[in-house]
Amino acid sequence: MALGGLGVVRGVVRVIKKNESPHATSGEPSPSRAVWTTTLGRPVANSIRSSWVILRFHHLFWLCQHVWVNSSDGLYRHDLAVVHHKGFGFHAAACAPGILEILAPVRARQGLVLELGCGTGLLTKELIAAGHQVIATDASAGMLEVARDFLGETAPAGRAPELRLLALPDDPLPQVDAIVAIGHPLNYLPDAASIDRALVAIAEALRPGGVVALDLADLEWGAARQNTPNYSDIGAEWAIITRFSTPRPDLFVRDITTFLANPDGSWRRDDEHHENVLVDTSQVPALMRGHGVEVEVRSSFGTETLPRGLRAVVGHRPPAVPP
Ligand SMILES: C[S@@+](CC[C@H](N)C(=O)[O-])C[C@H]1O[C@@H](n2cnc3c(N)ncnc32)[C@H](O)[C@@H]1O
Repeated sequence: MALGGLGVVRGVVRVIKKNESPHATSGEPSPSRAVWTTTLGRPVANSIRSSWVILRFHHLFWLCQHVWVNSSDGLYRHDLAVVHHKGFGFHAAACAPGILEILAPVRARQGLVLELGCGTGLLTKELIAAGHQVIATDASAGMLEVARDFLGETAPAGRAPELRLLALPDDPLPQVDAIVAIGHPLNYLPDAASIDRALVAIAEALRPGGVVALDLADLEWGAARQNTPNYSDIGAEWAIITRFSTPRPDLFVRDITTFLANPDGSWRRDDEHHENVLVDTSQVPALMRGHGVEVEVRSSFGTETLPRGLRAVVGHRPPAVPP
């Protein structure tokens, strides 16, 4: 469509140039303009006018499409979701063994696991392979789209998880036996109060005996990343460049540019701006205890080494006491 529009512009420019007069700006009716109207007549004038209408329509259509896609899709639009899936699987791979061990009692009783911020399903796949029943959720339609394809291809027959669009902190959470969240999805919320609301919602969604395992970026995350140089990486069909900044001690900002190969061999670019609110994770146990859940803040889920400033929040709601 955009190319069609360009063709119309070129055509219009060519017609105008062909009939241009050196006197065109004189204010006098230009001789060549007179020739143009008399020899080519009203049909051509009308066709040029309608070309401009079509051009404007194309431009408006492109603008609406572009603004709509960018504003409605929010973070982790399709291209970054693909790059995340292809280039950033190492975090889920590192956390999975420790999380599976924490969730072993839940699997033993065939409990239901809720995953928050599941992204493209990298941890989800491990949970399913271990025999868990999972509801995998994320706020990004782009991430869930990649997850749907990935898990559809890799999950054993009949064991595909339920995938749901769910945005913290206000979307209701189902009652479950375990909640997991890695890749610090809670730090994407706009402020510390929203993160507290999400932690309370998580506590309240846990059934008696339920288990929680999530990672959360502490204030130390930002302190450890002052003046971090740009990051770049490239794969066969993708590339990423990230610029970092820490405008406040509790704010970590990434400006992320991705390039993805189109089927015709050309490349397209997208840009996303991510802000992560950092919190004092030592306050989390008291907050969740107030809602009946005991957690500890640890340096890892299992034997993996988490990035500096990323904490594992692990705990449970005590089982109901029989009357
Ligand atoms: C760094 S990615 C981690 C994805 C995945 N857990 C992994 O480890 O590969 C953070 C995820 O949090 C999700 N997220 C951001 N804001 C969210 C919100 N308000 N509610 C739920 N998920 C959110 C993003 O869409 C993204 O999928």
